[in-house]
Amino acid sequence: MLFNHPIPAFSGFQWSGRLAPSLRVSEVLSGIQSVVCSIAQDASSSPEQPFYHQSILLKEVIEFLAPAQGKLIVDGTLGGGGHTEALLRVGASVKGIDRDQEARVYAAQRLERFGERFEPVAGRFSEMSQLAQAKQWGLLDGILLDLGVSSHQLDAGERGFSFRFDGPLDMRMGKEGPTAADLVNSWSESELRQIFWDLGEEKSARKIAAWIVSQRAQSPFETTLQLANGIEKLIGRRGKTHPATKVFQALRMQVNDELGELRRFLELAPTLLKPGGRLAIISFHSLEDRMVKQAFREQSRQEIDRPEWPEPRPNPRCFYRLLTRRGIAPDLMEVQTNPRSRSSRLRVVEKINPVIPSL
Ligand SMILES: C[S@@+](CC[C@H](N)C(=O)[O-])C[C@H]1O[C@@H](n2cnc3c(N)ncnc32)[C@H](O)[C@@H]1O
Repeated sequence: MLFNHPIPAFSGFQWSGRLAPSLRVSEVLSGIQSVVCSIAQDASSSPEQPFYHQSILLKEVIEFLAPAQGKLIVDGTLGGGGHTEALLRVGASVKGIDRDQEARVYAAQRLERFGERFEPVAGRFSEMSQLAQAKQWGLLDGILLDLGVSSHQLDAGERGFSFRFDGPLDMRMGKEGPTAADLVNSWSESELRQIFWDLGEEKSARKIAAWIVSQRAQSPFETTLQLANGIEKLIGRRGKTHPATKVFQALRMQVNDELGELRRFLELAPTLLKPGGRLAIISFHSLEDRMVKQAFREQSRQEIDRPEWPEPRPNPRCFYRLLTRRGIAPDLMEVQTNPRSRSSRLRVVEKINPVIPSL
């Protein structure tokens, strides 16, 4: 459900604020909807390049970020450039950050025709302040984060994210820091159990951690299938989901410090947007969605209260207006055509003018 947001202005469909006498509001809205839908469809496919990633909640992201000529938007998770392409197509300029060089190279090729309006940027989204300063972006009209990994990363065996294809047990989105193999071969049994439980919500965390520690004493883990097949033998297969899914998810999140990245970004995000600028975050993991939900709630509350205070006080950290009260989920059609979208949730806020607390 979308609410509380103005009608977006597209190049080719500029909202003039007045309706021709014969046009009803519902007709105008359905016109806008069809422009958004066609942008969304076109932007998710690119005939010249191999498939990379199917963008999720694309239509909703475009509606909320309301891109237009002259607006500057940072896509903090560029990936295959699907969301970015949809933003560029309606005239915005986009800086696309990704820590993965393969994503930047792919997107740069896909989006070449937009010229200077698109710039691929190497880095992590938690460093967005430093990047904005170094590159003199100024305050932004919009920021998008589409968290997690791309289909390309998951499906490329040599990247080591997949329990379906053999490859080195790597899982790093960038090339820096310890690999998944480093963690599995050196972390204590209790550390491994904790991340399998916390980040993977894996019920057999204890059993799997104990098995890993006994196995690695004989031969260290080097490949994805060595780990995936071993877990399958250990806990058996129930249902369609591979039994190593949750362990692989936990290792990936730990290797890339995904929760840390999000926490640091949420702290700095209010300083990056101009008043009226919007921040849209798509998350896939309940822990991520909870972090986003809490940060957005706390930073959009006008007053705070404590039992020891006689009355509520203005919240000095009130930076946003909530545009989505609940996380927006993909509709049935999207889940059917793209099952990976199933667990995604979109939350959006708008930066407000800073409120100066009265003395
Ligand atoms: C789900 S994909 C984005 C897909 C993209 N929205 C599209 O439509 O093609 C997530 C991308 O974000 C990148 N990424 C994840 N965490 C990151 C971080 N902390 N900093 C920069 N890039 C990150 C990954 O490398 C991956 O390419």
